[in-house]
Amino acid sequence: MPLDQPLGPLELLRALRDNPMTTWTKRHFTEKVVGGTGLLGRVMVFSDPALIRHVLVDNAANYWKGDLQQRMLSQGLGKGLLLAEGELWRSQRRAMAPLFSPRNVAGFQGTMADVAHNLVDRWRRQRDGRTVDVANEMARGTLRILARTIFSDGLTRTTDEFARAVTSYLDVIGKLDPLDVLDAPEWVPRVGKWQSRPTLTFFEDAIDAMVVRRQAQIKADPASAPRDLLTLLLEAADPETGAGLSELEVRANVMTFIAAGHETTSNALTWALYLLSQAPDARRRVEEEVDALLPDGIVAPGVLDQLVQTRAVLDEALRLYPPAATISREARDFDQIGDIRIKAGTGIIISPWVLHRHKLLWEQPDNFRPERFLPEARGTIDRFAYLPFGAGPRVCIGASFALQEAVTMLATIIRSFRLDLVKGQKVMPIQRISLRPKGGMPMVLRRR
Ligand code: HEM
Repeated sequence: MPLDQPLGPLELLRALRDNPMTTWTKRHFTEKVVGGTGLLGRVMVFSDPALIRHVLVDNAANYWKGDLQQRMLSQGLGKGLLLAEGELWRSQRRAMAPLFSPRNVAGFQGTMADVAHNLVDRWRRQRDGRTVDVANEMARGTLRILARTIFSDGLTRTTDEFARAVTSYLDVIGKLDPLDVLDAPEWVPRVGKWQSRPTLTFFEDAIDAMVVRRQAQIKADPASAPRDLLTLLLEAADPETGAGLSELEVRANVMTFIAAGHETTSNALTWALYLLSQAPDARRRVEEEVDALLPDGIVAPGVLDQLVQTRAVLDEALRLYPPAATISREARDFDQIGDIRIKAGTGIIISPWVLHRHKLLWEQPDNFRPERFLPEARGTIDRFAYLPFGAGPRVCIGASFALQEAVTMLATIIRSFRLDLVKGQKVMPIQRISLRPKGGMPMVLRRR
């Protein structure tokens, strides 16, 4: 529930650390611009499609990701695409665009379908009516998909070891440290960053070992190397300069794919399953669709485009529970948009959570209505009112990968199972790296 009044400075710090979702006020959902100067310096929250377009597209060069994001996430991801700025970012983006070309993404569909099928198979071997933590199950699934699309010849550690390290790493880096919010100097130790050190080292070593193994294979016989994301990263070159990625950049981008692509997608799926459990009619429409299109329970590449109900449910879940709940920028230089004056250094917050539930932009903003996203209706949605993957030059590079993966997983699950929320379970979103349900999502699995 949005607040009537903004929080005081101490409460705000605590809320930012524990769950930034609890800091929004009613004004944010009814006004297009809410600005002020406080703990975080001068900050403006934009929920106006025209202003958002200006910041993310028209004058994107004037808005960088800002210090706070850099400080929070730079451990491990610093030289990767998500955090890079300036020429390093431009060159990496040009070099990495082909990794996520429609052809390459389509090439990963078989792996996605296989992982989804294995998950359902494992559930089928368990007692009917069993309760599982769906958040956890989806996280396992999306991590397996990433592991197999990045390192298709296998991990040098077990997937479970890897999964544990990913979760604890994301847990620590995903929390806003009050020292970072207050701009404390770098030399003041951050407890969270200490805690993440061993996990980070585990990761770096595991990834380096796989990179070395693959480099040796490519050198010995390039044709024998699998065409997965790791080979594509090692071969990537900026078409303008011919420069490839350094070893540090390869490692940072592997970690970036895992940090940016794993929990985001798994939470999108978790929220979709939760929303469906609360909406029998929408669930029935998806069930009918998958029963007709997946006769043997497997998503074949050719049917992806026909799964319009499944896709609409995911789009609507991404609206109501956008995994990347905040997009933030900082103005490099003074800028003026109409009569809004933006001083250099001003923080701009574009919050998909607020934007997607804004009273001026959506009809019945808090209601789950997947039909908004059916092919005949979605054309009426303003491109800059719906930003689960951001927009402009820094739009999510993995968006089509994520959507293909989520549609494949959701359709496979619904084809075989009906999931219901455990009775009495209170569901509350909490913002870490991505928007996840606090305490998980216990649901009862029933075979269909
Ligand atoms: C449902 C799943 C996902 C959501 C909601 C999501 C959301 C986003 C958003 C909002 C941004 C833009 C951030 C900004 O402008 O500040 C972004 C960027 C990015 N995402 Fe995703 N993402 C998802 C899945 C993935 C996947 C699967 C991958 C890779 C395998 C990925 C890799 C990236 C990268 C590398 C960037 C940085 C792009 C750049 O700055 O050039 N994401 N994502």
